[in-house]
Amino acid sequence: MRRKILAAICISMVLGAVGCSSSGGAEEEAAETMPENITENTVAEESERNSSPGKILVAYFSWADNAVLEDDVDAVTSPSVIPPGNVQQLAGWVQEETGGDLFTIRVTDPYPSDWDECLDRANEERGENARPELEEQVENLEEYDTVFLGYPNWWYGAPMPLLTFLGENDLSGKQVYLFCSHGTGGLAQSVEQITEAAPDAVISDNIFDCYEEDSASSQEEIQSWAGEIAGAGQEAAEESAEQSAAQRISVQFGDNTVIYELNDSPAAASLGEQLPITVEVEDFSTNEKIFYPPQELDTSDTPAAEGGAGTLAYYAPWGDVVMYYDDYNENPSLFELGQAVSGAEQIGEMTGTIIIDLADIGDE
Ligand SMILES: Cc1cc2nc3c(=O)[nH]c(=O)nc-3n(C[C@H](O)[C@H](O)[C@H](O)COP(=O)(O)O)c2cc1C
Repeated sequence: MRRKILAAICISMVLGAVGCSSSGGAEEEAAETMPENITENTVAEESERNSSPGKILVAYFSWADNAVLEDDVDAVTSPSVIPPGNVQQLAGWVQEETGGDLFTIRVTDPYPSDWDECLDRANEERGENARPELEEQVENLEEYDTVFLGYPNWWYGAPMPLLTFLGENDLSGKQVYLFCSHGTGGLAQSVEQITEAAPDAVISDNIFDCYEEDSASSQEEIQSWAGEIAGAGQEAAEESAEQSAAQRISVQFGDNTVIYELNDSPAAASLGEQLPITVEVEDFSTNEKIFYPPQELDTSDTPAAEGGAGTLAYYAPWGDVVMYYDDYNENPSLFELGQAVSGAEQIGEMTGTIIIDLADIGDE
């Protein structure tokens, strides 16, 4: 009976909050599932983070993990108290997809397994703005970079134990992805409450939410959502690692290697594009080793060379790349390509055939 009343209130609040959806990038869906007062300022924008999702935590709250199951529990009126709970199941799939560590938020004083009694207690806790005590905290929380946080809608928002969790486990700076199972009430005030409880967490607006009766059949949808998040972060990280490796070049002669970090000038880029180069190094003056790349470098928008020993430069009139191992005089035709970051002391010894190539991280 009480369930029907609750459902009726929820239906009048949010129509159409059935099925499963993820709101990231789809503004229409976000408008349908997000409370009106959630703005771009209260939910951190999904930022293209050029970093790996890193270590992943999948933390969730679910009634089934927080009730003492009585023998006579009515599976019809209190369905999700019987394991697996809806969010419990969703969390398991997210964990399976992302390989994260699973953490179930559990209160020390379990909720009644009777639907009406559970509603009453949850309602009281909401009214008192209570923070029910938790059994345990996440170990080594500082190691996690990304947190998938799952919860059911309880009384138009986040269950109070979830707010206890956020108060006791500092998610500042971590990337947080929410997933929620609910009745017809949708996400209601939950995102706003979570944002308030974890103001320094980076809460994505790419939220997965699922109508209670569809939760059990949403494995594919939630795994595709979580997989895209974890995969996109990984790809961005790999791309960024490749880019940073491309900014370093190695000059190898005999058993020795000098590593240069290139600047982001067009001249440095045009040298990078010609690699690998195998060439005879030449001596010049008392402070330079030089070689001629096959093609001229593009010196537009390239800074003048003004470092000392260790500078990698390009002398445009002759078209040679210069590796300095002692001080030199500045010259308007001398452009800086980068600086030695390791092996600079060997430059003066360079002789014979040298191989210039993009540096692997392991070369350093
Ligand atoms: C105490 C309580 C309060 C609830 N309040 C709401 C609500 O306000 N709006 C809503 O849409 N669903 C509400 N629900 C339904 C749950 O959000 C939904 O059944 C969810 O799928 C349960 O997930 P779980 O099985 O992991 O606990 C409530 C359920 C409980 C037990």
